Amino acid sequence: MIPRVTASVDLSALTHNLGVVRRIAPRSRVMAAVKADAYGHGAVPVSRALEAAGVDTLAVACLEEAMALRQARIQAPIALLEGVMSGEEAAQAVYERLQIVVHDHWQIDLLERLPTSARLTLWLKLDSGMHRLGFPLTDVPRLRDVLARHPGWTFAGWMTHLACADEPDNAFTREQIARFEAALSGAPGPRSIANSAGLLAWPQARVDWVRPGLALYGCSPLPEMPALGLGLRPAMRLESRLIAVREYAAGEGVGYGLRYRCPERMRIGVVSVGYADGMHRAFRDGTPVLVRGRRAYLAGRVSMDMITVDLREVADAAVGDPVLLWGEGLPAEQIATWADTLSYELFCGLTQRVRFRYRGAPA
Ligand SMILES: Cc1ncc(COP(=O)(O)O)c(C=O)c1O
Repeated sequence: MIPRVTASVDLSALTHNLGVVRRIAPRSRVMAAVKADAYGHGAVPVSRALEAAGVDTLAVACLEEAMALRQARIQAPIALLEGVMSGEEAAQAVYERLQIVVHDHWQIDLLERLPTSARLTLWLKLDSGMHRLGFPLTDVPRLRDVLARHPGWTFAGWMTHLACADEPDNAFTREQIARFEAALSGAPGPRSIANSAGLLAWPQARVDWVRPGLALYGCSPLPEMPALGLGLRPAMRLESRLIAVREYAAGEGVGYGLRYRCPERMRIGVVSVGYADGMHRAFRDGTPVLVRGRRAYLAGRVSMDMITVDLREVADAAVGDPVLLWGEGLPAEQIATWADTLSYELFCGLTQRVRFRYRGAPA
């Protein structure tokens, strides 16, 4: 049986991209974001590949995601970016040797209720201006007191997150970095500031730890710095097939609402992928796909299981031909703009109908 939609993940691209990150930030240790099922790429195979490549730490959103990795016998350090929600979760996190990111005082209260023998590792997250998670910077002295009260705790470091790192001209990033450094002046412990955009575009954010996600999957978060130019290789190819090819007269409408009107007599291909697979319904006419290495273009609304494409530039296209939706030669970050979204959301939006294949696994 030929799968309708296949996501082929090249794990060697991930380890290659880890190498690119290490070259860009040679003095930083790398915490790789594998949350949200490794951005839809498959958390277990991705984490295994990164672990084999010597990543320093993996990062997930929550305990459940971390447990899935431990159950798959992944031994690498794992950080819980949102920390824990209860004493029970805290105890479990300690048992599983997870690093807990602590962003509020109620979480400290939870940790202080653990037995003093608990071998706890924690990061402290500071809000340097994004106003999502983190302690106010003015809390640093109080937090230093907390650490001093608990010499048995292992302190992994201070963390903050940048709000506008993907806008290289936005001075607020400089401001956030300066505020973070000033608040921590004299405070012992490693620092971590940069996500992918931070480490690619802001050299001053390449401190003790960097925390890339998207770049490891081979995408650039910065329109001004395409992934190819950075040496990043896309890890995923999303492919389907042509299941029908038809010719229509000028003026004929195609698909729901007849949104697309054929400007001339032309061939329309039907590809077996739709919004139930993760192909956003918001994609506009003109969104490119690749058939036989040439471009065809979305022509008509995305339906649940199918899309229709303008085949005028692929005269020899035939039923059964593979159709690349994104991947090498068709960067997901560029495709995403056709649905006014980001490659992050395209990847995370793939559904259970998509068949995943892995290659390039470490020996
Ligand atoms: C705290 C934190 N650090 C790092 C990352 C990785 O970000 P990116 O995928 O943009 O590199 C994320 C992702 O949202 C995050 O929330």
